[in-house]
Amino acid sequence: MSGPKGARGRRFEGALDPIAAEVNASVGFDHRLLPHDVAGSIAHAQMLAAQGLITNADATAIVDGLRRVEHQLASGELAWDEALEDVHMNVEARLVEAIGDAGRRLHTGRSRNDQVATDLRLYALAAAEKLIDAIDGLRQALLVQARAHIDTLMPGYTHLQRAQPVRLAHHLLAYDAMLSRDRSRIADAAWRADESPLGSGALAGTTLPIDRDRTAQSLGFSDVTRNSLDAVGDRDFAIELVGACALVQVHLSRLGEELVLWSTQEFGFVKIGEAYCSGSSLMPQKMNPDLAELVRAKTGRVAGDWIALITIVKGLPLAYNKDLQETQEPLYDAVETVTACLAIARGMIASLVFDTKRMRAAIDAGHLVATELADYLVTKDVTFREAHDIAGHLVRIATERGVELAALDLKTLREAHPAFEADVAGWLDPVRAVDRRDLVGGPARQRVLAEIERIEQELR
Ligand code: ARG
Repeated sequence: MSGPKGARGRRFEGALDPIAAEVNASVGFDHRLLPHDVAGSIAHAQMLAAQGLITNADATAIVDGLRRVEHQLASGELAWDEALEDVHMNVEARLVEAIGDAGRRLHTGRSRNDQVATDLRLYALAAAEKLIDAIDGLRQALLVQARAHIDTLMPGYTHLQRAQPVRLAHHLLAYDAMLSRDRSRIADAAWRADESPLGSGALAGTTLPIDRDRTAQSLGFSDVTRNSLDAVGDRDFAIELVGACALVQVHLSRLGEELVLWSTQEFGFVKIGEAYCSGSSLMPQKMNPDLAELVRAKTGRVAGDWIALITIVKGLPLAYNKDLQETQEPLYDAVETVTACLAIARGMIASLVFDTKRMRAAIDAGHLVATELADYLVTKDVTFREAHDIAGHLVRIATERGVELAALDLKTLREAHPAFEADVAGWLDPVRAVDRRDLVGGPARQRVLAEIERIEQELR
């Protein structure tokens, strides 16, 4: 091999201990940085030429060579070499092999420390964009179901006990609310990641007259970092992005849990598409919601990624430390896991077939209109506390008689309180009960429709 053998140079006589070499090498995971590493090197080489630090001819040879090496490494035509440690040394060594001496000028005024910090920020920015697309994809799927089920009623729950009737669309859009916060958290993390560390050198910049603004601009960064020591040692952007990912995953776990529950025979609210279920090796009748369960479970993994990240960075002295290499895998794992789970959730939501009759039947058992009775009395000038008490008393009577609240006759109601009149019947109809909750954020038909339209507008 004519190129640099690893980054150790002639300071070293012997090779790394084999196990040490294995643990030291990062190419097994940082090969993901290839497109960003090459983009960073191209911007750097062009800047070096513009600054007169290398010739235009060398810059052209470097840029062409980098494009070829990228293609060869990405296609598998060239194999990654663990002896070369990481993606950076693999690319540089192959470049020198391909174009000779000009390749040896690429690393002028640069260190792997500012190089990897740059690559990782570019990775984080690209990942944020993909995550946002995946979030919007899931939001679209929720919207389609919400539109289709604008008139499907279901019990809303607290403590997983039937509480008050709501619209299925309103329930689905609760997830849109979570996902829209997730989206803005990711965009916010990306906003802070959007600074170029290139030019920070190993820790203290460089004596050579480089142009940091130029490389930042060609890489699409909005600005440059302001402190070289911080810039090479900072992984806040990864921690923030993974933190946002962990919260996305928490939301997906709640969705997964509801799909698991709703698809049980006990609930019977929904059938999940076969593409997202598996059978049992023993019980032929089973159709298990495996993917909903796995989406729920992956949350532990992504939360673990975040814990790993903050723990690795905690207590590190300035500036670069090799510990920072360990921040890469949790970042990749979180991004890849969440991106996949969002895509799965999107397909799973689109595949749902709701049993609207079962949902409706669930409203009609469990005295879900008890609050309506109390609200009715309030409109008749009874204090809420007294009204609540009377409604509770009526629930007890209905339960004793083995009937629903709505089945109690007016005579019984009037015995409980003389303010009850014939118009109370209208209050006990669940459809009207839902539509009476006509306020911003509420489940009334017009409000939910307006929300659907607002969100559709936002996603357009
Ligand atoms: N693979 C290394 C990392 O991810 C690149 C930087 C190496 N720098 C160094 N001084 N050894 O952190």
